[in-house]
Amino acid sequence: MPGDWAGCARVLTPLTRRLPKFPAIITGMAIAETSLSHVYPLGARLNAHGVLELGGCDALQLAREFGTPAYIVVEDDLRERARAYIAAGRAAGHEDLAVVYASKASACTALLRLFAQEGLWCDVASGGELHLALAGGFPPERLLMHGNAKSLDELRAALRHRLGLIVIDNFDEIERLALLVGEGELAGGSDRVARAAGGIAQPVLIRATPDVRGDTHEKISTGQANSKFGFGMEEVPEAIRRVRAIAGLELQGIHAHVGSQLLELEPFRRAAQQLSQLGVFPTWDLGGGLGVAYTASQHPPSIEDYVGAVVGAAREYLGEHSRLLIEPGRSLTANAGVTLYTVESVKRNVSTWVGVDGGMSDNLRPMLYDASYEAEVVDRFGGDTPCVLAGKHCESGDVIVREALLDNPRPGDVIVTPVTGAYGHAMANNYNGVPRPPIIFCSGGDARVVVRRESFDDLNLRDVA
Ligand code: LLP
Repeated sequence: MPGDWAGCARVLTPLTRRLPKFPAIITGMAIAETSLSHVYPLGARLNAHGVLELGGCDALQLAREFGTPAYIVVEDDLRERARAYIAAGRAAGHEDLAVVYASKASACTALLRLFAQEGLWCDVASGGELHLALAGGFPPERLLMHGNAKSLDELRAALRHRLGLIVIDNFDEIERLALLVGEGELAGGSDRVARAAGGIAQPVLIRATPDVRGDTHEKISTGQANSKFGFGMEEVPEAIRRVRAIAGLELQGIHAHVGSQLLELEPFRRAAQQLSQLGVFPTWDLGGGLGVAYTASQHPPSIEDYVGAVVGAAREYLGEHSRLLIEPGRSLTANAGVTLYTVESVKRNVSTWVGVDGGMSDNLRPMLYDASYEAEVVDRFGGDTPCVLAGKHCESGDVIVREALLDNPRPGDVIVTPVTGAYGHAMANNYNGVPRPPIIFCSGGDARVVVRRESFDDLNLRDVA
């Protein structure tokens, strides 16, 4: 990968430079490659021909070779952000900080393998994510299971694999775990997971809802009192009492997650302050939630500032020597990825409608959360034609970017939308029978498929009649 950003503390401070209106193409002179705003993956730039380059790979060639739509992920970006988290923990002077990747953000095996190699932990929110995390090579002791509606099978799997932590969400789950680790019929005969009998108790956390709201979309806000997640603050003492009464469970501490895509640090501090009422514990897990820039005008706190703030709050309110867990998802993967589309049609009525070959099957975020994205023609950045970037799906809500500025787009153009590395592939679907895109990893000028494109035959694969 280009050495210009390999040291990385520097690149993780967002580049605030805006693109020039037109790429700097200066004939007859050495042409300066143009670096892009901080929404793009680390090291992304316009090459000497004004074409977007990602991980050293030309975006037009990527589109030609792998087809579109395609998720392009810059491998070194993922690695550097993982390292930035670990380094930030060290810089903040925390002796025992575990960085737990929230795999719901993106759970492809290659990406999980990379984070496992970098020494992260991983959180899974279902049996399927557990399966993927194990396939990615995470040792079970570095896995943590979440869920407000865990099934018996999911709890059994968590116990059988001896996960590092199970985060208990509700009283029914305490009862289920009591039965599974004890003599309960629920676990059923030979299928019983009798941990207590073997003298090894399952480490657990209790999830609390700290009654703290961050400024984010209501669908991804979780810390408020009326939440489907966790125990209310007033219920936590009873939950603690019940868990401590079960020999097969070892209560290590408390978990809370305020919400996602938070662009301010204050809610994390308030959550720690609230949780301090609950007592003294060897482990605290303050969840994930650090927001990212989807557009160049957004400037989220850096990883370093976020970790510094969380460590500081934990020190102030939760005690100097407890183990601290944080669960970043989006901030590890979002900006590492972009989506490439091909323009299929351009229609002018009240607006200019640019129809591309993907849409709400590969990026549901604009439709679910009114999320804003940027878009560019990959070889003509800096356009000024106001366009609506629309998907190919059969409904009017299928709009990827409501106010895109593109350079005279026409059929065949390749379009990039940055910041699709989190909750893009993870929430992809087959609406209108559209096959899901591949994931291509790029590094040092090489590109490789790590998840292949779905085929039409894949769409029938599960039919049994
Ligand atoms: N820990 C827990 C318990 C969570 O529920 C979540 C996210 C995270 C960690 C990771 O949060 P992050 O660092 O990624 O903000 N589909 C939505 C996001 C849903 C997030 C749900 N929980 C979106 O596309 O914005």
